[in-house]
Amino acid sequence: MGIMLDQLESLRLSLLKAVSDAASMGELEEIETKFLGRKGELTAILRQLGTIPVEERKVVGSRANEVKMEGEAAIADRRQVFATSAHAEIADTDWADVTEPGVRPPKGHLHPVSQAIREITKIFDHVGFSRVRHPEVDWDWFAFESLNMPKEHPARDEWETFFVDAPETKQGRMVLTPHTSNSQVRELLLGELPIRMINIAKCYRRQIDVTHVPVFHQFEGLYVDKDVSITHLRGVLDYFAKSYFGPDRVTRLRPHHFRFTEPSFEIDVSCGVCGGTGLLNGAKCRTCKRGWLELGGAGMVHPNVLKAGGVDPKVYSGFAFGWGIERTASMKSGTKLDDIRILYKNDIRFLEQF
Ligand code: PHE
Repeated sequence: MGIMLDQLESLRLSLLKAVSDAASMGELEEIETKFLGRKGELTAILRQLGTIPVEERKVVGSRANEVKMEGEAAIADRRQVFATSAHAEIADTDWADVTEPGVRPPKGHLHPVSQAIREITKIFDHVGFSRVRHPEVDWDWFAFESLNMPKEHPARDEWETFFVDAPETKQGRMVLTPHTSNSQVRELLLGELPIRMINIAKCYRRQIDVTHVPVFHQFEGLYVDKDVSITHLRGVLDYFAKSYFGPDRVTRLRPHHFRFTEPSFEIDVSCGVCGGTGLLNGAKCRTCKRGWLELGGAGMVHPNVLKAGGVDPKVYSGFAFGWGIERTASMKSGTKLDDIRILYKNDIRFLEQF
């Protein structure tokens, strides 16, 4: 029995030493198998139990158990040390200060034309004009003919039209809409009266220079009901001018001619730079023409247009207006664009300013 107890003691000592010398989790693993594993040294010693008297076996057996438990505890302790130091290492190299202020990613904003579209939509929405959609590629009939502009009529020349190379139909050739006024008859034909619409869409014309781009935007207003008069038109225009440009702005109507409105007007808005006086510090205001800026066209819907839309002009009347978004937006910001094309050059240095 003495021999076996000695063997256990020397196993215990070498086990503890090996554990304290171990340099990694991996080594600990090997030590555990070597000393305490199923085919390990402790098992080898215990195999000799059969060679000693029964009453001694108990003593040796319980001693072996103590050695095993002590060894396992030492291994567990050492494991803990390795685990903690592994964490410590991660904490040293791989950490984040959660209290540090974040880095904001660069954030863009809507294009000035999109901003204007949203704002104009909202302003008209407040007085019950809902935004509608109508085609941007349409038949000649909607773009011209139904608007009181028969084929070959010289008034058509003003709308330098792109034609689509497609077979002609009863409604004529297909065009890229040169204005948003095609929406007038399209809306009338829907047959839901009264109408209070705002149609914002792309328009196309064969022109490109410092004041024109071939693809631009217009917003078209249409109000059709019983007893609509020019007073209503003025009221809506003034409301828009004040909401969009500022409370001290007013509009004026100048006689003009459109085939689809009668009477027709050119709408001006008072200049925000000189306050509508045309004079700035005693000199001529360079932003406007004698105190006014041109907004766009408007008028009372022509009876022929109402008829084309299936609406009886003896019962109903209405007004319409159509203006360019690019122009209206640049008038608001007060930026005098030397060249309107800059809006579509995607030059961030320009766009960031809005
Ligand atoms: N469609 C006309 C244009 O493009 C503007 C307009 C719209 C005029 C509605 C009167 C009424 O110039």
